[in-house]
Amino acid sequence: MSKIATIILAAGKGTRMPSKRPKALYEIAGMPMIAHVLSEVCALGNITPHIVVGYRAQQVKDAFTLDTAQWHTQDPQLGTAHAVACALDHIKDDDTVLVTYTDMPLLKSSVYQEMLDKTNDQNFVVLTTHLPDPHGYGRIVRNDNHQAIAIVEEADANAEQKQINEVNVGVVTAKAKTLKALIQEVSNDNKPQEYYLTDCLGIASDKGVPVVCVVLQDPQQARGVNSGIEAQHAERILQKQIATTLAKRASVKDINRIDIRGEVQVGTDISFDIGVILEGKVVIGSGTKIGPYTVIKNAVIGSNSHIKAFSHIEDSKIGNHCSIGPYARLRPETVIDDGAQIGNFVEIKKSHIGTQTKINHLSYIGDSEVGKDTNIGAGTITCNYDGANKHKTIIEDGVFIGSDTQIIAPVTIGKGATIGAGSTITHDAQANALTLSRSEQKTVKGWKRPQKNPPKDKQ
Ligand code: UD1
Ligand code: CA
Repeated sequence: MSKIATIILAAGKGTRMPSKRPKALYEIAGMPMIAHVLSEVCALGNITPHIVVGYRAQQVKDAFTLDTAQWHTQDPQLGTAHAVACALDHIKDDDTVLVTYTDMPLLKSSVYQEMLDKTNDQNFVVLTTHLPDPHGYGRIVRNDNHQAIAIVEEADANAEQKQINEVNVGVVTAKAKTLKALIQEVSNDNKPQEYYLTDCLGIASDKGVPVVCVVLQDPQQARGVNSGIEAQHAERILQKQIATTLAKRASVKDINRIDIRGEVQVGTDISFDIGVILEGKVVIGSGTKIGPYTVIKNAVIGSNSHIKAFSHIEDSKIGNHCSIGPYARLRPETVIDDGAQIGNFVEIKKSHIGTQTKINHLSYIGDSEVGKDTNIGAGTITCNYDGANKHKTIIEDGVFIGSDTQIIAPVTIGKGATIGAGSTITHDAQANALTLSRSEQKTVKGWKRPQKNPPKDKQ
């Protein structure tokens, strides 16, 4: 049975990118560029991806655990036709081949599908589009009958050809046997001495192989990413698409000022203020408000909670009816139960905070188990680290901790205990009792403030 094999070219170094990482792994919208391409390609269903790697090949391979993918190494990298040949040897003649590049994260699977639908046993299908500024792209040369007869690369184009604004997007489809026959004839007789995949169009035209051009109506999808600036353009385009989709299900104050670098699940009646960054997997329950300039990464937030401005939440779980921030920092492994309030300049790490508990100002709670209905005063610090090991603090239900208290772990504050402000707690505090450690206040009688010496001339 004839199958579809997709060849994704990812062997290039990406010399114009602002990073030494292989271009395939450069992240757009929180995902490596090649992952965007793979996701669109795999959406076609029943596809075997053949990925051609070269520059830092192992690094690219290590980034994926794709059972279905077949990896091919191109070393040295002699051009796109040479890269395709590395994979074609492993594809049966009867299979249909779709070739695409790793640096086209904006191209949608519907375009690939349209090309596959037009591919038959004889033809060679090329994706083109019209760009107001075609600089850098291969130009489509057509004859007087408007038939495409060649692709001329930027490096080899003459002044007249450079005026052509119909460009090669970088996707071709054909039967494997057709492509094999064409690629065999590609030479490196050009300025950079590369084997261009794009030469296949001219060879097909010369040999009488029918050439079909699918013209992409949305040129935005055709944008290749070769430089930092182009990566930034692609990032903004994708972000706007993702935010527009989100804005159909949630109240997004400004689709240009929210960034989503992962997957977001939302209930109903959720609002996102400006400057929000969501990363990894974020789940938000109905009625929750996300305030301005908050950063939320891998978190589950319940319903009717309010994450206030400038808060930072990572690998944490927040319940229903909670209030977090402004300026709160929840570090990994934090769990906040329903109705709890975490206020400004409060940092919580690897701790569980019980229902209705309040930690409203300037505190650090780390490696702690805090019960319900507890009030932790301003400036409370759990001293969890002795320089070598981390220790646990247990604060039971209904505790009241006065301001500016240091709790030196390991220690337990019993149920209903009250800790006097300014205490340094080094031993377990008894339940339902007042515990404090504080030097006694005294007043020095007759003490006078020092006076400034008068200037010399007045002495
Ligand atoms: C390529 C096309 C150009 C098209 C443009 C669209 C060729 C010769 N030119 O140019 O017509 O308009 O894309 O964006 O195909 N690669 C390899 N091995 C190699 C060389 C490249 O795997 O030996 C990979 C790169 O990693 C990249 C892709 O092929 O993913 C395209 O290479 P790139 O250098 O980006 O080609 P462009 O100059 O953009
Ligand atoms: Ca490119």
